[in-house]
Amino acid sequence: MTATELTDRGEAGMTVAFVLLEESHIPLMERWLNSGEAFRWYGGRLRTEEELRRKYLVEKPRTGTHCFIIEYGGRPIGYLQYFRIADYPDYYSLLCAEPHDYCLDLFIGRDDCIGRGIGTQVVRAALDRLIFTRPDAGRCLLGPSPENKRAIRCYEKCGFRHIRTVTSDSGEVEYVMAVEKAPTALETCP
Ligand SMILES: CC(C)(COP(=O)(O)OP(=O)(O)OC[C@H]1O[C@@H](n2cnc3c(N)ncnc32)[C@H](O)[C@@H]1OP(=O)(O)O)[C@@H](O)C(=O)NCCC(=O)NCCS
Repeated sequence: MTATELTDRGEAGMTVAFVLLEESHIPLMERWLNSGEAFRWYGGRLRTEEELRRKYLVEKPRTGTHCFIIEYGGRPIGYLQYFRIADYPDYYSLLCAEPHDYCLDLFIGRDDCIGRGIGTQVVRAALDRLIFTRPDAGRCLLGPSPENKRAIRCYEKCGFRHIRTVTSDSGEVEYVMAVEKAPTALETCP
């Protein structure tokens, strides 16, 4: 199975898949990030396709961020990214992170897919299949806005707990949550 075909079958019998972000997804990203809940909680300002192309297809991959479209039941519904926090020294310091920490970040772009348990299914699948399969990943962090109660509740259901609240130089407040990788059967043997 390749990185573009990682799948997970959830309770509802629908399949979550992570498809590597590519040029053909940019118009979708532009639509999602400029409206609805994704604009409110993730984008925060209007973006052009050209800006998104540069940011998501060039800059993020170059600095080590892995960018995916989330598919649910075979349909694209949102965007997810993850990265090793140590690859971003300023953010590493801000979060008081540790060397084995990874960061996960996502949005569901279709408002009709929000609040139906899909985000919980997607986050669990990302932890199991993308992040904690990496040998150097020991913990996963997320930094929603403290006002984003729906996101916080979703992450709590996936095992994340609040560890600290930080404010960036630009004034953005993050309610930092973390979940540890569960020890494998081998690691728990005496
Ligand atoms: C955050 C996001 C990924 C969560 O996915 P989702 O599919 O909507 O979440 P789920 O339906 O799995 O879980 C949401 C939970 O929050 C609860 N919830 C919803 N609104 C809430 C509120 N105002 N206060 C408290 N809890 C709330 C729901 O009841 C549900 O909990 P429950 O199952 O115990 O009833 C999705 O809503 C999203 O992408 N939002 C827009 C962008 C965004 O916020 N991105 C996250 C940036 S960190």
